[in-house]
Amino acid sequence: MRQRDIPRIPSGEITDEAVYRDRRRLLKTLALAPALVAAGCRGGEPPAPVAGPAPSAASLAAGLRTAEEQTRYEDATSYNNFYEYGSGKADPSRAAKTLVTSPWNIAVSGECAKPGMRAIEDLLAGLVPEERVYRMRCVEGWSMVIPWLGVSLGAVLKRLQPTAAAKYVAFTTLADPRQMPGVRSPIIDWPYREGLRLDEAMHPLTLLVTGMYGKPLPQQNGAPLRLVVPWKYGFKGIKSIVAIEFTRTRPRTAWNDMQPREYGFFANVNPAVDHPRWSQKTERRIAGSGNRLFAERIATRPFNGYGEQVASMYAGLDLERWY
Ligand code: MTE
Repeated sequence: MRQRDIPRIPSGEITDEAVYRDRRRLLKTLALAPALVAAGCRGGEPPAPVAGPAPSAASLAAGLRTAEEQTRYEDATSYNNFYEYGSGKADPSRAAKTLVTSPWNIAVSGECAKPGMRAIEDLLAGLVPEERVYRMRCVEGWSMVIPWLGVSLGAVLKRLQPTAAAKYVAFTTLADPRQMPGVRSPIIDWPYREGLRLDEAMHPLTLLVTGMYGKPLPQQNGAPLRLVVPWKYGFKGIKSIVAIEFTRTRPRTAWNDMQPREYGFFANVNPAVDHPRWSQKTERRIAGSGNRLFAERIATRPFNGYGEQVASMYAGLDLERWY
């Protein structure tokens, strides 16, 4: 995702330079670029959500499990993004063995009636993990189909009793240089942070994940607790969460802070809005025995194919501007 990652993307996948330059020129001509920076990403608050018609129970149920061919366990656990363990796809599976996942505590703070430090067992007590088979679309242009095990984030957040003032939820990853060699280099302004609007966090598809493929979550995939939001680019799926904070205003998030023109706060999968350095129209689907680098290219769908379930949350929001 950094400038120096570019060579890893096969040249055929990168937007043709002429097209890219043309787009830049067009944006400049229309004087849109400054507006995108000012409004779309860093400054200001997006408009308050206007809820559209709620999705039906049948469409929600349809979103819980895709029947598409699944990614192999070996691929989902050896081709990872976890910058705390390096920026190479194979780094986390090699290096993350040093992550100690038990005991594990989560600091709850902000606009809620139940702040305080919680052991993961207490936070999740009584909630039975269920299997959800979701597509995962990375902003870099690859995707997987993964059977996750987890509990609805909404169920956990309700226990913490957000106040009426809570509008967003912010999450933080552990940043311990003794366990995470990557945090010694300043690629990201550590700790890794992510956030959701409260209605997104409470949506029934949003999952707090503790396992995958019927097994406990491996360290490289974000053990012992990570977020999965299937209609958003994969970077919203923050790993190894140690803090949850309810906030009144939009929280700062790691990739958006670093490069707001490339990584929006909402990060809803949208094939109509190109990343400034590549197209988002298609994705490399790493599934079955498909070769990782040259896997089949398929069309990317708005909201990663979960529009029926989630689009109503964004009624009235200009999705090209608030990406
Ligand atoms: N969480 C942390 N803490 N650090 C990271 O570097 N990478 C994100 C996300 N969560 C990342 C993270 C990105 S870019 C993606 S695509 C997914 O994790 C990848 O999840 P996976 O390795 O389980 O496929």
